[in-house]
Amino acid sequence: MFQLIEPDIKIIPLKIWMARRIAAIHCQSFALDSWSYETFKDLLDNHHVSGWLIIVNCHVAGFLMIRCIEGEAEILTFAISPKWQRHRLGTALLKTLREWAQKNSVEAVFLEVAIDNVAALRLYHSQGFTSVGRRRDYYTYKDGSCVDAELMVLRFLASPTGFEPVLPP
Ligand SMILES: CC(C)(COP(=O)(O)OP(=O)(O)OC[C@H]1O[C@@H](n2cnc3c(N)ncnc32)[C@H](O)[C@@H]1OP(=O)(O)O)[C@@H](O)C(=O)NCCC(=O)NCCS
Repeated sequence: MFQLIEPDIKIIPLKIWMARRIAAIHCQSFALDSWSYETFKDLLDNHHVSGWLIIVNCHVAGFLMIRCIEGEAEILTFAISPKWQRHRLGTALLKTLREWAQKNSVEAVFLEVAIDNVAALRLYHSQGFTSVGRRRDYYTYKDGSCVDAELMVLRFLASPTGFEPVLPP
């Protein structure tokens, strides 16, 4: 792994014209279950769907996509391109999500993650998400195998200074 020295990191809102770019990152990052350009285009056409792109030294390195309806948000998908992984870019996108959720009075952010995805599970735990359930055989990979999903949540409580995340003890 290379070291990023004083990287120029920009996080910008997702737009529909970015669909091809994020489909390419999704394909690199989820070899067994990639989503098409058309899927991303349709999702970004939905006014409940939004998210962020992360750019490092002018290279598109990853994205995080959410759907938010009436105070509840859900991470639809999230990936950092393999070349840029392990440089805290995923952490930076989750921090952006948390700040956005606090500003927009979101009460909870949910997500599903495959139980064999050690990297994502560790990242979500480190950012305060807690497990609230299990969905059996939730993901079917292209090779036909199935894996359970862990259902996780990060809740926010209204406080005099706004919505604060409820972090585990
Ligand atoms: C999961 C993913 C988004 C993490 O992004 P990232 O930018 O590499 O993560 P970060 O550098 O911010 O890592 C933060 C912490 O997460 C954990 N983590 C990240 N990658 C890990 C790995 N490969 N193995 C074990 N732990 C890992 C570590 O605790 C890490 O902290 P550390 O580096 O101090 O040990 C990235 O691996 C990815 O895109 N994977 C493929 C797609 C995917 O699984 N998306 C999530 C679907 S729910």
